[in-house]
Amino acid sequence: MKCFFKTLSIVLLLSLTVIIGSSSAEELSGELEIFSWWAGDEGPALEALITLYKAGYPKVEVVNATITGGSGINAKAVLKTRMLGGNPPDSFQVHAGQELIGTWVKADRMEDLTGLFKESGWMESFPQDLIKLLGTDKGIWSVPVNIHRSNVLWYIPANLEKWGIDAPENWDDFLAIAPKLKEQGVVPLALATNWTANHLWESVALSSLGADKWDALWSGKLDWTSEDVVKAWELFGKVLEFTNEDASSLSWQQATDMVVNGQAAFNVMGDWAAGYMSTTLKMEPKKDYGWAASPGTEGVFMFLADSFGLPKGAPHRANTLAWLKLLGSKAGSDAFNPLKGSISARLDSDLSLYNVYSQSAADDFGKNRIVGSLAHGVVANEGFMNDFATVMGMFLKSRNPQQAAQAGQAIAIQNGMDE
Ligand code: GAL
Repeated sequence: MKCFFKTLSIVLLLSLTVIIGSSSAEELSGELEIFSWWAGDEGPALEALITLYKAGYPKVEVVNATITGGSGINAKAVLKTRMLGGNPPDSFQVHAGQELIGTWVKADRMEDLTGLFKESGWMESFPQDLIKLLGTDKGIWSVPVNIHRSNVLWYIPANLEKWGIDAPENWDDFLAIAPKLKEQGVVPLALATNWTANHLWESVALSSLGADKWDALWSGKLDWTSEDVVKAWELFGKVLEFTNEDASSLSWQQATDMVVNGQAAFNVMGDWAAGYMSTTLKMEPKKDYGWAASPGTEGVFMFLADSFGLPKGAPHRANTLAWLKLLGSKAGSDAFNPLKGSISARLDSDLSLYNVYSQSAADDFGKNRIVGSLAHGVVANEGFMNDFATVMGMFLKSRNPQQAAQAGQAIAIQNGMDE
């Protein structure tokens, strides 16, 4: 496996040299500060990109500024302080969709990258729908590096066999097998810190509402106080009964570990969990770990995309443009994604470089109904996401679906999302 990655990086390095050409190593120097939450276990894919960048621009000193905390829970707060304080990093991780548009673009903090997209041929390399999510009528505001899937259920096939159960196809199935698992001392569903409750909620709500109503919720056509949404909260409350009590003190990796070491049967997490299990834990997809669409969401791909932009006032603009060019390239994308558990956002990616999990995700992405993630910035702006985290905190204590539905309506109005 190690040897495979070594060969892969040599091949990618060579193709990158062709892409950025000899003129690329031009006289770029100074620093490049890349700001993200891909620290520690989440780091290898980003590091592979940085290695490629350094090969192309040896005189640039790359500052890999990471702030730990899944889904950017800590990084986004620091970013806000820096952006508002007039001290932006050169480039920062931001989710495609409302997290970018409804926050930083709205505040007029980003540079338009339309020129870069056109000159790089990216108007054809990326799906039109994705470009739309990164843009407004005034420009295109970031470069996508991947497509992640949010609604995935993870398990260990050998453990399910031992416990005599199958992966549940819907939440009713899950609620039927969960008490039996509990009797055997197994946690039915591993959960981690609060943002992962938001993550679980979006999969449960998607199955309860269905894709059309999920979309309607975000276009303001379905009220948060509607019976449909109350039902989604009710189901979520039932599912929570079968999660671990120490959830709030665990990272998403620790919740995944619970599944891997047999303390828990399942985990609903984005496919960065595949990256963690394959790249960090060296497990083999299908053999060592298994997956399915989260219960009741077969045929729907809830997606999110990580992207990087160029903030106005970035201290090292030319270095950043070279970074963005690498991110959007085929070589950069195919170096990053096989390690990350995501698929390339480009239409021409080389799928032979990807493992069976990612190949199946790419296949689903091509044929499933696509909807956007809440927990990872596609459908709601940051104001709403922060407020939703508060609503979730309240629900985790009160378990009151009516109250959560009403609070949801209030924060939708407050954040301008009710129409
Ligand atoms: C998501 C991000 C993923 C992964 C995950 C866990 O928001 O898009 O790339 O980092 O958080 O931290």
